[in-house]
Amino acid sequence: MNFRNKDWRNSMRLSVDYNYMMKKFIGEDGFKDAELNEMKEMAADAFDYVAENRGKGMMGWTELPYNQKEIVEDIIATAKEVRRKFKYFVVLGIGGSALGPNAVFNALCHLHYNELAPSKRKGPKFYVEDNVDPERMAALLDVIEPEKTCFNVITKSGATSETMTQYLIINDILTKSLGDKASENIIATTDQVKGNLIKLAKQHGYKTFTIPDGVGGRFSELCPVGLLPAAVLGLDIKALLAGAAYMDGVCNKPSIAKNPALACAVLQYMAMKRGKNVGVMMPYADSLKLMSDWYCQLWAESLGKNVTLDKKPCNVGQTPVKSLGVTDQHSQVQLYTEGPFDKVVTFLSVKEYRKEVKIPHGCEDIPDVAFLGGHTMNELIAAENKATAYALAKAGRQNYTIWLPQVNEFTLGELMYLFELQTAYAGAMFNIDTYNQPGVEAGKQATYALLGKKGYEAKREELDSAPAAEEKYIV
Ligand code: PA5
Repeated sequence: MNFRNKDWRNSMRLSVDYNYMMKKFIGEDGFKDAELNEMKEMAADAFDYVAENRGKGMMGWTELPYNQKEIVEDIIATAKEVRRKFKYFVVLGIGGSALGPNAVFNALCHLHYNELAPSKRKGPKFYVEDNVDPERMAALLDVIEPEKTCFNVITKSGATSETMTQYLIINDILTKSLGDKASENIIATTDQVKGNLIKLAKQHGYKTFTIPDGVGGRFSELCPVGLLPAAVLGLDIKALLAGAAYMDGVCNKPSIAKNPALACAVLQYMAMKRGKNVGVMMPYADSLKLMSDWYCQLWAESLGKNVTLDKKPCNVGQTPVKSLGVTDQHSQVQLYTEGPFDKVVTFLSVKEYRKEVKIPHGCEDIPDVAFLGGHTMNELIAAENKATAYALAKAGRQNYTIWLPQVNEFTLGELMYLFELQTAYAGAMFNIDTYNQPGVEAGKQATYALLGKKGYEAKREELDSAPAAEEKYIV
């Protein structure tokens, strides 16, 4: 990948087309230029807040494109060894410790990667296990050989029940079959000091990568959380980071007209203020399908808050919805076009797909089918994307498009960094703590209590004394 060449980098620049957010194009529900202008000051304040705080507190993620030179070399060397030794690579993690690795895998590897012959894959078979559904764990064990598998246990806190459950199961299996050598099949990615995983890693001598201080789960894809799995897959992680750094550079101005992440944040903020409580993320590429999952966590967990930084009650946030073009044109778009005016649709559109598939001529006596012949699937998906954006606009529905020239490591790094910055700016506009997740912690604590973890007796009592379910409400 030619990311060291400036012209190439510029040819890969992402852009945001928000014409269909504007009154001029969609009518009543759109924004006027004057309304966007009124946002200038708030946008500049949000920009300044992020610029002043970058690298500090929980904003360590801003520096990841720049401060990992040695770690990247270690990751690349480790990944090479993993590819040499193992037939399977399994990520054990949840939330921010799983969604990024899975999104990058989906975006940059063959769409049927695991079914490819080993000679056609750059790395081992790859799985991301982010649930404690017993059927899923059993299914995984049906298709892998644990002794030939490298398990990457990822947890920032080192305390998440789901991930530690998976660890207990896998460690037990490995220890029974490999004895002391079990530790060679486990790589820990976790906090340097906090939590249980780091203690276990030290005790068993696991190869360990650190999730830096100041990098929370959902902002961790560009640290070893995402970089190791990507490198094991044979992906160019230096290009991924270079893409992120490039987007950082693109977004270095406090102006909506020049900074695409700031523009997205402002558009979404204004939309939310007008009651657009649903944000649909709709890539027109199967490769970007799981980017929506990653984005949904980032956007929902960061912005869904009930108190401002100065402790004033608020209930802010926007419900992100995953959608896929063109598939969901045949399932959800009816609602987006004619249902309530409560949504903003973000399209992720690709200028140049990595493959071209021609549609052969045929069925000449059936005009409704014959017109497709001679075109390509590329033309068809592009036309459907354009048509859907237009149809939404015509129905007065706000939508905008993030254009990716291609899907590759560099543009993916750009996209992820853009979304992270957009989220940081939006959080600053709402004056909330973008980086905490008390709502997630509450659920974690209730689970500890229900399963009898020491120290959670009071919580258990609270749960036990909650009103019992009434039969009359069960049908
Ligand atoms: O964004 C977050 O911090 C969370 O969603 C976490 O990623 C998730 O709860 C998993 O936590 P951990 O990585 O500590 O196991």
